[in-house]
Amino acid sequence: MKKIYVVGNPVKHSLSPDIHNYWLKKYDLNCVYEKLELEKNPEKLNLQQKELIIKIRNEEVIGINITVPFKQKFQEHIDDQEQTAILAKAINTIYKRGDKLIGANTDGIGFYNSLTQDFKCDVPKVIHILGAGGAAYGILSELLKHKIARVYISNRNKFKAEEMANYFKRIKSFSSTRISVKKSIFERPLSPVGMFINTSSIGMKGQEINYKKLDTLFSLLSKYAIVYDINYNQTKTIFNKLAEKEELDPDKIFNGKFMLIRQAAESFNKWFGIKLIKKDIDEGIKILEKFIS
Ligand code: ATR
Repeated sequence: MKKIYVVGNPVKHSLSPDIHNYWLKKYDLNCVYEKLELEKNPEKLNLQQKELIIKIRNEEVIGINITVPFKQKFQEHIDDQEQTAILAKAINTIYKRGDKLIGANTDGIGFYNSLTQDFKCDVPKVIHILGAGGAAYGILSELLKHKIARVYISNRNKFKAEEMANYFKRIKSFSSTRISVKKSIFERPLSPVGMFINTSSIGMKGQEINYKKLDTLFSLLSKYAIVYDINYNQTKTIFNKLAEKEELDPDKIFNGKFMLIRQAAESFNKWFGIKLIKKDIDEGIKILEKFIS
């Protein structure tokens, strides 16, 4: 039987096998999706990567998903990168086209598809994004294609926020968007924000902060603003609860479950050329919910 792997370290908590194996069975594809923990040691990693790449080339392995900390570690092993991966500076999916191995990033499109197709929201003109890690690059590189007027970025490490702002400012096709950096994660933007996105791991276990200090963050959000926390380990994340407290529209408060399923669906499409339908997405969500409190 052919294989697909999700590679990472650690990888044992990944829910991707549960989602993909469901779809693989449903579409009667002779393939199984498994976790593969790679070594962090650069030399050992390089050997494991080479072995894996050979298996994708000879089609023993159909492709891979890549998770933390290896999203920037496969670039030199493949033949080409999609624009999505170049802009996001990260690869989360590898697939074979003809005799070439291609790297893609499906996080941004996963976010966008969840927003527009599952939540039926348009991309607002003003966005506040918290975090400046891999997920933020992926999401912002997709959203900036949709004519945003203004983006505020905040991050614990302000230097990284400035680096991300400068990176996107330098991209010509995004030059009509005003991008600015807030002094701290607690400083709220002064003009009305249409969507707040948390891409940081605040609220995850071990990533605790002083929640009281976040209290005023949403006080200037429009009543119709979207609050999208991409974390999916809880049904209601800290930012979801904060939005509820501010009495924002409950139909516009989201966590990261649909983004996770939508990015998985995009990868599935790259491996098999199958465009999953809404029913598949909703069934994926049900599977995910078995693991989320
Ligand atoms: P991902 O690929 O999920 O974006 P990442 O690249 O490791 O993961 O980025 C994690 C993000 O969460 C970063 O923006 C990080 O902020 P720093 O750049 O300052 O490290 C943010 N983050 C993690 N723990 C945090 C905490 N306790 N408080 C505030 N921000 C935190």
